Amino acid sequence: MSASQPSTSSLPLPPGKSGLPWIGETISFLLDPDFATKRRQQYGAIFRTHIIGRPTVVMSGAAANKFILATGFDKFSWRDGWPDNFKELLGESLFLQEGAEHQRNRKLLMPAFHGKALVNYVETIDKITDCYLAKWSQTGDLTWFPELKNLTFEIASVLLIGSEPGAQTTELSRLFTELTNGLFTLPLNWSYTTYGRAIAARDKLLAQIETVVLARQQQPTQDALGLLVQSQDEDGNRLSVDELKVQALLLLFAGHETTTSLIASLCLALAQHPEILAQARAEQAQIGMDTPLSIDSLKQMTYLDRVLREVERMYPPVGGGFRGVVEEFEFNGYRVPKGWQVLYRIPEAHFDEAVYPNPTSFDPDRFAPERYEYKPSDYTFATYGGGSRICIGMAFAQMELKIIAAKLLRDYSWELLPDQNLTLDPIPTLHPRDGLKVKFQKLAR
Ligand code: HEM
Repeated sequence: MSASQPSTSSLPLPPGKSGLPWIGETISFLLDPDFATKRRQQYGAIFRTHIIGRPTVVMSGAAANKFILATGFDKFSWRDGWPDNFKELLGESLFLQEGAEHQRNRKLLMPAFHGKALVNYVETIDKITDCYLAKWSQTGDLTWFPELKNLTFEIASVLLIGSEPGAQTTELSRLFTELTNGLFTLPLNWSYTTYGRAIAARDKLLAQIETVVLARQQQPTQDALGLLVQSQDEDGNRLSVDELKVQALLLLFAGHETTTSLIASLCLALAQHPEILAQARAEQAQIGMDTPLSIDSLKQMTYLDRVLREVERMYPPVGGGFRGVVEEFEFNGYRVPKGWQVLYRIPEAHFDEAVYPNPTSFDPDRFAPERYEYKPSDYTFATYGGGSRICIGMAFAQMELKIIAAKLLRDYSWELLPDQNLTLDPIPTLHPRDGLKVKFQKLAR
């Protein structure tokens, strides 16, 4: 592999097919979970296709990740990687921004998701989780995935857009579902179409967020939205009310389905590996089942850390990221023209045998210090993306996951119910096809 050379025009296009006229290979891309794996086996780490209306090059593996996320960063546009529906429904927010504008806004958003800010979120996450766990143990048999999604939505909406738990959050969740239904539909904006309803839902969500932003401006708080309202850079610049509204909506969008996916995969993996579950429980017992959850006590859970890293490796919620190509480039001897789109893939690097021996076995100890198969600098682990635009919510998500996991391990058991499809569907984010049916119980202590 080499980065872009002065002249690439004589190089061939990557191997692959364009599929049917206009529609290309979009249907296989959306319906076949092995779309990329099969073509990677046939063509290698870079192949050509035509999906979602554009000629597309799919690139996978650590070298491709490094090129797209870091060394070749300037050849790509985030904004051009998103379909138009996203641009309208999610507004002028971080996902669509680039260059100086992106840097300024990322800097203003960052403090709410790192370091000291996280300390203030522990109690809220702990309390909300308690309510859901108690409710589930009374229900007994449940389809867990939608319930986990309600939990993460409530945590995200309370912390990120200042919602009140209960009826208000339920209504926001309904509006949010209408909004996301509009992301992959025809953009016909009439009151009775899916897209029209999505636009109406977006407007109501933004109005709700604006009310809270104005309240936070009067009376600062320590939730994420409160911190974002107060955030300012070294020149005293702050986010305006309009900016805050769209950024908060984006954070809500980016921040809960992904987390739901990982928690569901964690619960599935632990149910399938009782010996690992037992070891993770033993760690909780050793720390003290009643030791309050805090940043410090979470830090002591080193075995749980390994389990979570292994879940992130084997079950990355996001399959990859689209980018527009703004400058022709060369990769592995092939030419990728300006105006095409690129999809970088996350899972392939995670199953590279040279880095992760027996990659399909669930083995948390591969992240133990003495084995340390994860090498952060070589893009072999890209669950949260990488480079300068790595997920802004990574530390927040990992803390949330750890709190929920610790509470589950301390006081609850879950058993997979028979007769269900446990395979995972990668679109839109990795999720169990039958919703993960379990018998959920409180443990006697
Ligand atoms: C397990 C949970 C999560 C996963 C797996 C995840 C995954 C990702 C990935 C893969 C990217 C990069 C996408 C690309 O390169 O195209 C990303 C970016 C991003 N994520 Fe996350 N994410 C998670 C949680 C969160 C949370 C909780 C938030 C917000 C509170 C969040 C906000 C964002 C934002 C704003 C970006 C764009 C960053 C930028 O453009 O500078 N994510 N995330």
